Amino acid sequence: MPSAAGGSHPGRRAAAPDLDIAGVSVAEVTDDAHTRMVRDAYDTVATAYADRFGGELAAKPIDRGLLAAFADLVLADGGGPVADLGCGPGHVGAHLRSLGLDVFGVDLSPGMVAVARERHPGMRFDVGSMLALDLPDAGLAGACAFYSIIHLPTDRLPAAFGELDRVLRPGARVILAFQVGDDEELRRRGEWLGHEDVELRAWRRRPEHVAALLADAGIHAHATLVREPDAAEAVDRAYLLARKRP
Ligand SMILES: C[S@@+](CC[C@H](N)C(=O)[O-])C[C@H]1O[C@@H](n2cnc3c(N)ncnc32)[C@H](O)[C@@H]1O
Repeated sequence: MPSAAGGSHPGRRAAAPDLDIAGVSVAEVTDDAHTRMVRDAYDTVATAYADRFGGELAAKPIDRGLLAAFADLVLADGGGPVADLGCGPGHVGAHLRSLGLDVFGVDLSPGMVAVARERHPGMRFDVGSMLALDLPDAGLAGACAFYSIIHLPTDRLPAAFGELDRVLRPGARVILAFQVGDDEELRRRGEWLGHEDVELRAWRRRPEHVAALLADAGIHAHATLVREPDAAEAVDRAYLLARKRP
């Protein structure tokens, strides 16, 4: 079990009444309309998303290489708890765990957390928001966020990165992945992964914009990779390796 998880702290939101969705009893972490939309969308598609993407790393050697570099950096610093933020069905965190990291997952969607627990029974997954993590200050040796900051409106990224900075130890490592674009907002309403009427918003961003916002939070992006889309993808993908100031 990661020692960084659990406990109350100044960043945590006041607990709201418990929800019980997909067999996971959770405290509602936030209730604004955008967050509800994202959570509802991923609750709806959780199983289908896991079926479609849960094994995707097998066909993504560049992603595996960057995750291996991230794992090496965390271990070279002495290791410690690592959070997979917006973990979805848990496959990225599980891969990092297979590389020797002490990983747990956090996701806004109770449905996703239920699927992650089912598919990776040896791992810990918690419901929570990147905007208000239920984690103590300076406890994490690293954090990974693959395709989860894409659902944060741009004006919330400073708060999310400030929260990330709060929970990271000095010198802790970060890896982010996201689709590249000029701050374009995508709105989806309709069929997705076999489910009708799914509504979702996401943003594509330039890596230098994300790196600048990380820097404002005290997290320095020291390596950026942009790759072309593969056959199943629409746009370029960006990966940032970053480090909180030591
Ligand atoms: C595109 S999926 C990515 C899942 C997984 N990381 C992957 O690489 O396949 C986005 C995930 O981010 C989660 N998410 C979105 N906003 C979040 C937030 N504010 N806090 C925590 N998780 C969030 C969603 O519930 C969803 O599971």
